[in-house]
Amino acid sequence: MSHADDHEGTRRDFLYYATAGAGVVATGAAVWPLVDQMNPSADVQALSSIYVDVGGVAVGTQITVKYLGKPVFIRRRTEEEIEAARGVPMSALIDTSSENPNKPGTDAADINRVIGDKEDWLVMIGVCTHLGCVPIGDGAGEYGGWFCPCHGSHYDTSGRIRKGPAPENLHIPIAAFVDDSTIKLG
Ligand code: FES
Repeated sequence: MSHADDHEGTRRDFLYYATAGAGVVATGAAVWPLVDQMNPSADVQALSSIYVDVGGVAVGTQITVKYLGKPVFIRRRTEEEIEAARGVPMSALIDTSSENPNKPGTDAADINRVIGDKEDWLVMIGVCTHLGCVPIGDGAGEYGGWFCPCHGSHYDTSGRIRKGPAPENLHIPIAAFVDDSTIKLG
């Protein structure tokens, strides 16, 4: 890795922390350096997959990993969060289309946004669909999910846009469990 790349990586990480704010994802902050080291360098990452050990992610917490240069939120939801997401009728959603490449042709019902049939695990690209800020998580916003402070977009516990200028639900990357505690991205 060249010096320039090195500098770039450091700068991006700093910007990320500055955007996300302290204490937003306490677990994520601790896990980040480890996961980040596992990421391939920018020049070879375009076609690659990464494996994320989520064995230490407790219910009601989330981690953020960097994948293909973007933050990816991996949240293990509580029963309350799952129930809240399930209870939302389609008619209340701004974006009812599926954003899940793992389940093509489905709509934005909560069951279609989780990994496989594991309703507690939600994996999403952590980029606001308005202008690309990184939303704040851990029960933020009026719908108890994620909140983007840039222009006030509120996402629910399924990462679906409910209020504010963002036009689409938080996107979902290609992701799957490969064993009980490992998620493969890509
Ligand atoms: S970038 Fe998130 S609300 Fe504008």
